[in-house]
Amino acid sequence: MKLQNESTVTALSPEQIKFFADYIEQKLGIIYAKDNYYQLERRLSDIATTLGVGSVIELWTKAQTGISGQFQSLLLDLSTNNETSFFRDPGLFKAIEERILVEPRFGGDNPLPLRIWCCATSTGQEVYSMAILLHAWKLQNPRRSFSFLATDYSLRVLKQAEEGKYSQLEIQRGLPEAMINRFFKPEKHASNPAVATGSWIVTEELKKGITYKQQNLLDDFGGIGPFEIVLCRNVLIYQNVENKRRIIAEIARRLVPGGYLVLGAAESLMGLSEDFEMRQIDRAVVYQRKQDLKTR
Ligand SMILES: C[S@@+](CC[C@H](N)C(=O)[O-])C[C@H]1O[C@@H](n2cnc3c(N)ncnc32)[C@H](O)[C@@H]1O
Repeated sequence: MKLQNESTVTALSPEQIKFFADYIEQKLGIIYAKDNYYQLERRLSDIATTLGVGSVIELWTKAQTGISGQFQSLLLDLSTNNETSFFRDPGLFKAIEERILVEPRFGGDNPLPLRIWCCATSTGQEVYSMAILLHAWKLQNPRRSFSFLATDYSLRVLKQAEEGKYSQLEIQRGLPEAMINRFFKPEKHASNPAVATGSWIVTEELKKGITYKQQNLLDDFGGIGPFEIVLCRNVLIYQNVENKRRIIAEIARRLVPGGYLVLGAAESLMGLSEDFEMRQIDRAVVYQRKQDLKTR
């Protein structure tokens, strides 16, 4: 016997799935390899169900007259991979904490805040990991303030980031118990506050100074910046070389000279930009913006 879902999952031709893959690539830069078309088709099936459209074929027919509104946001949102964890790539965070944040120019009594941008923040673990580091930094630099901009294309993940609510499984990925107890509170059932739900909520103290905003890295960056540190981690891997170059050039323009760009542990700027010096800190690599930019 065939389940309803199985019949819809295999209904579209490769050309019809390619139509959606091309649309996603044009809007977000995310490239679906042919090998992953089955994943995309499964997501299209979920979208058809959510929109109350009978089948993926009907969804495809609907798409021929344009993709907009809820259809567009579901399609683009569901095509993002939001994998993340607290202190992902611990060596990088150690380098930021022990070698970058201690630089004299980031301390003292400079009246400007230390400005940090997490440009693909996903569900927020990255920005809260940074906020934990900045909490310790602030104790050493009481006269300086800091601010975070946390952006992502997906409003679904931004909502969780802003809520700062994590399951037991999510909280345990990368956070030692002492940090959990220091910066998170167990959520309680609304109907019975004596009983915990199993989820954890970030304290208001840790959320302080963070602004959340939707930003597609392929769109105009508008008035964003300047920043001393930008984290752009595990998002360029989904982009073609031309988009990578464009995004990095935009980030370079928004970093102060000498400011830092931090990529994912498996990513590099090789062949993509001449606007940065590579700095190896122990086993971590970060990129420092040069004084003058070649890319204009
Ligand atoms: C794999 S997660 C990385 C999260 C975090 N930076 C980390 O390294 O743990 C990639 C994130 O990039 C976002 N993303 C993908 N394409 C994007 C685009 N064109 N503009 C903005 N965000 C995008 C996704 O929504 C997703 O949350």
